[in-house]
Amino acid sequence: QSRDSEAGQTTTSMSKNMDKQPFVIGVAGGAASGKTTVCDMIIQQLHDQRVVLVNQDSFYHNLNAEELTRVHEYNFDHPDAFDNEQLLSSIEKLMHGQAVDIPNYDFKSYKNNVFPARRVNRSDVIILEGILIFHDPRFRELMNMKIFVDTDADVRLARRIRRDTVEKGRDIGSVLDQYSKFVKPAFDDFILPTKKFADIIIPRGGDNHVAIDLIVQHIRTKLGQHDLCKIYPNLYVIQSTFQI
Ligand code: ADP
Ligand code: C5P
Repeated sequence: QSRDSEAGQTTTSMSKNMDKQPFVIGVAGGAASGKTTVCDMIIQQLHDQRVVLVNQDSFYHNLNAEELTRVHEYNFDHPDAFDNEQLLSSIEKLMHGQAVDIPNYDFKSYKNNVFPARRVNRSDVIILEGILIFHDPRFRELMNMKIFVDTDADVRLARRIRRDTVEKGRDIGSVLDQYSKFVKPAFDDFILPTKKFADIIIPRGGDNHVAIDLIVQHIRTKLGQHDLCKIYPNLYVIQSTFQI
């Protein structure tokens, strides 16, 4: 087994089927709910498949000069904060087997750096993760499985304070102001309403090992069925008859 850590992909001999459509998983939920943690756990367990993780964060719009001077008034939790067109085009290319360059978003400078981008190659599984990844129906339509990470608001806020002060170097006052002005209202108005699109809701995020095991088992079954149906096309009939 070889791991290309820069591309965030794992490759092994089990992944020889180059002509099948990738299995697309969407992972949504509030900021600091544990989405990335859940994705990492899924990727770890799917170590014998080629998996690529694409974060919606990588597709934040760059701020113009005026927005940069008043960054505390910018709403990073609104659906318009993301360049969904570029994200969609990248995902469509990946789904058609092309390699794509994913920009590196820098939370400190608020800039999307195309260089050095993260090159990702075709994969068996594509995981799309982001607070608003279920908001635009075009993304939902691409997904074979939709997961919503459901973590209590106080836990999310506590994690966010720690993360934004320690990792992003922000002061606690600005974190709390941003939370009450933008993060909480956007969660209520835009993120929580997308929970209804989820196939699976995971309480407690990465602490929920049972949920993650079940999800991984389901993905394995689906990937296996896909391979079988390519060898025995009539299995599609059996499959659709018994599908719940
Ligand atoms: P998201 O991708 O939803 O923003 P992350 O997975 O990045 O969430 O987690 C946000 C923060 O909370 C990170 O600092 C992470 O280390 C921490 N965290 C995530 N899950 C847990 C957990 N189950 N227990 C403790 N800390 C956690
Ligand atoms: O990783 P996570 O899903 O938590 O990232 C989304 C959060 O990042 C949003 O709640 C948004 O407020 C925050 N963000 C930020 N500064 C930026 C870009 C996003 O605080 N420059």
